[in-house]
Amino acid sequence: MSDSYTKQPISLAPMVDKTDRDWRWIIRHITKKSLLYTEMITAPAILRGNRDRLLSFDPLEKPLVLQLGWDEPEALAESCRIAEDYGYDEVNLNCGCPSDKVQRHDFGAALMARPEHVARLVEAMSAASNLNVTVKNRIGIRSKKSNLSLEDYSDLHNFIKKVSSAGCGKFIVHSRIAILEGLSPRANRAVPPLRPEDVYQLKEDFPNLFIEINGGYKTYDQIDEALSFVDGVMLGRIALDNPWMLSQVDRRWFGSDNSDYQHPTRRAVFEAAVPYLIHRAEEGASRGVLIQPLMNLFAGKKGAKAWKRALTEVPSAGPEGFAGALEGAISALDLSLLD
Ligand SMILES: Cc1cc2nc3c(=O)[nH]c(=O)nc-3n(C[C@H](O)[C@H](O)[C@H](O)COP(=O)(O)O)c2cc1C
Repeated sequence: MSDSYTKQPISLAPMVDKTDRDWRWIIRHITKKSLLYTEMITAPAILRGNRDRLLSFDPLEKPLVLQLGWDEPEALAESCRIAEDYGYDEVNLNCGCPSDKVQRHDFGAALMARPEHVARLVEAMSAASNLNVTVKNRIGIRSKKSNLSLEDYSDLHNFIKKVSSAGCGKFIVHSRIAILEGLSPRANRAVPPLRPEDVYQLKEDFPNLFIEINGGYKTYDQIDEALSFVDGVMLGRIALDNPWMLSQVDRRWFGSDNSDYQHPTRRAVFEAAVPYLIHRAEEGASRGVLIQPLMNLFAGKKGAKAWKRALTEVPSAGPEGFAGALEGAISALDLSLLD
């Protein structure tokens, strides 16, 4: 088993329609060290879709993992070869998504019912390129329709045992089961209770694997506690809702406390973001989408609402007015908000 997996103690979760290249570019100015993930991209989309649009990224976003969704070894293997050509650092297989669309094709969380098949996928993917292959899964699944309940720790242990023996050395585990019918993906991120102890137990049972926990982390203290049991913590919604909390991540968990370390400032983020966003808008990226990563930058601060309001107006200035409107929104900010 390769020992060269990415080993960052903090990563930012793959999130469809959120963690696109522009979000990642801006977030990279807040945390330089965290491991970033793409949104989930299906293998057929890569093989048949607009590949450059789906896969190209700025090297500044690295280290960066491509998350793949699918259940056929050949298509996944070919996607890994392509990912290597594009310069990704690692590939991750989604075994945790419960959406109906994903289930219709039998991938995502449904794959947890087929550990031998996942092992075959990992083997095919690993053989296809030099990139390491990791898996993101739930602690279990329940499906009334298939009369399936894989919810005990022993089921999770069995899944990890089979998939790791096919060569996967790193697992990111969302510490909730997925309920495959009757719950939306959103509810599946809130309703099934968190069971972090199951993930801690995995690390005890498989000390040589890199075990990363995911689900519900919001505060530095919670992250510290988890890191005393497992190797990494993956942050999802908190990175969308309060991205500035990530500004402490490098100093706290990557030892960036030496004299060369420059703590990020919102001012520096804006100074970098404005020309970048203007350039991306000129390339045709949606202005409404481009401003999203900046929306919650003042979450929890007085003035946050006014900032959001000002920013929301920016796209309506049209392509020619975009640059001016963006600068205008920033200069209308109460500058005391900018540290
Ligand atoms: C909007 C949104 C989109 C998501 N898309 C993906 C995805 O593409 N792939 C994936 O593995 N998980 C996806 N997730 C789940 C997250 O990666 C993460 O597992 C989940 O949000 C729990 O972590 P959190 O409590 O820190 O948010 C998504 C979550 C959200 C909120």
